[in-house]
Amino acid sequence: MTLDLKTKTLPAGPDAAAEAAECLRGGGLIGFPTETVYGLGADAANPAAVARLYAAKGRPSFNPLIAHVASLDSARGLARFDATALRLAEAFWPGPLTLVLPKAPGCTVSDLATAGLDTVAVRIPAHPVAQAILRAFGGAVVAPSANRSGHVSPTTAAHVRADLDGRIDLIVDGGPVEVGVESTILGCLGAPVLLRPGGAPREAIERLLGFALAEPAAAPAGDHAPLAPGMLASHYAPGAQVRLDARDVRPGEALLGFGPVALPGAEAASAIRNLSPAGDLAEAAAHLFGFLRELDASGAHAIAVMPIPHQGLGEAINDRLRRAAAPRD
Ligand code: TXA
Ligand code: MG
Repeated sequence: MTLDLKTKTLPAGPDAAAEAAECLRGGGLIGFPTETVYGLGADAANPAAVARLYAAKGRPSFNPLIAHVASLDSARGLARFDATALRLAEAFWPGPLTLVLPKAPGCTVSDLATAGLDTVAVRIPAHPVAQAILRAFGGAVVAPSANRSGHVSPTTAAHVRADLDGRIDLIVDGGPVEVGVESTILGCLGAPVLLRPGGAPREAIERLLGFALAEPAAAPAGDHAPLAPGMLASHYAPGAQVRLDARDVRPGEALLGFGPVALPGAEAASAIRNLSPAGDLAEAAAHLFGFLRELDASGAHAIAVMPIPHQGLGEAINDRLRRAAAPRD
């Protein structure tokens, strides 16, 4: 018996890149791998395609998208880079860093994709499959993570299918991603501001800059346009409750471990995944979203999460876990 999937999936390769580019040209939506998470791509310059993308994801359209391009030259056609932004781009691209910059005069990214802001978020992904698709297409591709809004980000093609089958036109399967958490977002509209911790660790960015990153000013009460509008408190949410910094495992809970597991009650956990038995943060980031999905699917009512060190990729991991644990709307 064959499984009747509504969205076509192709293994990564030259044919898939060409078909993905063709699909984008026709206003279609593609799921594709980047080194951070799978993205849901649309032609950035096509407002109808961008509108379809928001609808497929179930995303509020006041939340702007990241424009992905293959080269710094293309990025400079979309946005204005000051000396600091240029240094960051040259050091971290291609890679898991997104820069929020002033739009360039000829910026082709549709106003719908930037939610009417006069800034644009830009990234050059390092994944060879993303690079191949961007080069075959030629233009900018806007791509949020390829999950339904509010769900955990996808790190495999199967995750994309689970959330978006039948809602998008094509999925390119490039295997599991390498980084596992989304890109770090820096606002570069003056002194660089860390808007979202992610795959490029703060320490590496601060080392390059030679100074500490500013924190985003707290949005004034009642302000519905925070600096990175997507950073809503409850996000990346699995169905199960998430309990952080667990020092024990309570009856009926599943356990998300890190490092050696020696917690009271662990032997009775309803399911166990260990992000990295050796305590390696890069390995933990790569496993984070997949393990959250698996523990959620195990039917546990709650997931106890062991403490994760708050350095390097740990800052992004803890940020996503905090959001997964936040009270739901
Ligand atoms: O790793 C990633 O960044 C992945 C892959 C696919 O590239 N993409 C991703 O996109 O995580 P998304 O849409 O899930 O998150 C983009 C974030 C949102 O929080 C959005 O509010 C913020 O970027 N953003 C986009 N444009 C912005 C702008 N002009 N100013 C401030 N924040 C912006
Ligand atoms: Mg997302």
